[in-house]
Amino acid sequence: MKILITGGAGYIGSHIGIELLNNGYDIIIIDNYCNSDRNVIRIMQQIAGKSFLSYDCDLRDKHQMEMVFRENAISAVIHCAGLKCVPESIANPIPYYQNNIGGTLNLLECMKRYGVYKIVFSSSATVYGLNNPVPYKEEMLLSATNPYGWTKIMIEQILKDFTTAEKDMKAAILRYFNPIGAHPSGLIGEKPEGIPNNLMPYLCQAAAGKLPSIKICGTDYRTADGTGVRDYIHVCDLVKGHVKALEKLDFLTGTEIYNLGTGKGSSVLKLITTFETVNGIKLKREISKRRPGDIDESYADVSKADKELGWKTELSLEDMCRDSWNYIKKNYAVSTE
Ligand code: NAD
Ligand code: WQD
Repeated sequence: MKILITGGAGYIGSHIGIELLNNGYDIIIIDNYCNSDRNVIRIMQQIAGKSFLSYDCDLRDKHQMEMVFRENAISAVIHCAGLKCVPESIANPIPYYQNNIGGTLNLLECMKRYGVYKIVFSSSATVYGLNNPVPYKEEMLLSATNPYGWTKIMIEQILKDFTTAEKDMKAAILRYFNPIGAHPSGLIGEKPEGIPNNLMPYLCQAAAGKLPSIKICGTDYRTADGTGVRDYIHVCDLVKGHVKALEKLDFLTGTEIYNLGTGKGSSVLKLITTFETVNGIKLKREISKRRPGDIDESYADVSKADKELGWKTELSLEDMCRDSWNYIKKNYAVSTE
């Protein structure tokens, strides 16, 4: 079976690609490399010991997209391509809507035209907004605090409408919680870019000597130690959920939604101390103010994925901290002193 991965050179898409190849699937990748490197393709082939086709293609380019679908017998699509930086989406919303929504619409049109009926979509826990109690359940009301989050809610709705109108179409929406970690080889991972917004990339940059200290954004949250709590999930566990979702699509009608998390929350302080202990690094800490719009706690109810997909996570917070740092240390560190 040939699976098209959009955004397949990115952090999550590249790990999905390797997992699919290891499970006997053929893959094709589409990426415009706006947030990834071309050499990731070669590295993926090296890790999996298999080759595959990749297209330097923008999802919004109708002509090129037609070509990809015409040239390949695609069985299903895993749709990861999109812009994902929250503050950037607030500062400059139009490209977020153009890219994430426009790209998805173009992809769905091609799927319909070429009779490709199965899609797995990378959504996000950000769709649970500010007002839901934890743990988050798939049926809760959705809202967003930024354009990035709205693109996820809108795409979820588009998929529901599309699978209602097109009876053969099926979609699995996967709501990722906080993916961190990297492939154990240390050859692929989350590419560091400027000053990171997210906690684990920030920690890694500080550990690599590229930032003077780590920043703890708020110590007055309503949590056990006062810092924000999130459901961190190892990217290698996350991608296994995609294989399960692909298998499940054969037995679904319409659209189904699954949370992909561990079901457990960890605080900022817990993540920092685990990172330090596992990697034998001491980081300088700086207390900073809350980020606007940040919530106290976010973690998943994972019972639906467990029951219906037969999926649950296996890797620990220690594994996540070790593998995230292993990737940065191997590829980007300047100094660990
Ligand atoms: P990423 O930026 O590493 O990967 C996305 C890839 O899509 C990149 O390689 C980028 O070059 C490509 N891309 C973007 N726009 C494109 C377009 N128009 N045409 C072709 N390629 C395009 O991001 P990621 O962390 O791997 O995230 C993958 C998906 O998962 C995204 O949709 C993201 O919103 C979602 N997600 C990520 C997280 C997270 O914390 N990483 C959490 C929840 C959801
Ligand atoms: C985690 C915790 C911060 C940075 C973001 C996106 C969301 C989703 C996942 C894609 C919070 C604290 C952070 C720092 C800190 N992505 N923090 N110092 O907030 O759950 O969500 O990533 O869909 O859309 O908004 O993750 O890693 O940014 O923050 O103390 O330098 O770490 O306040 O409590 P978050 P995060």
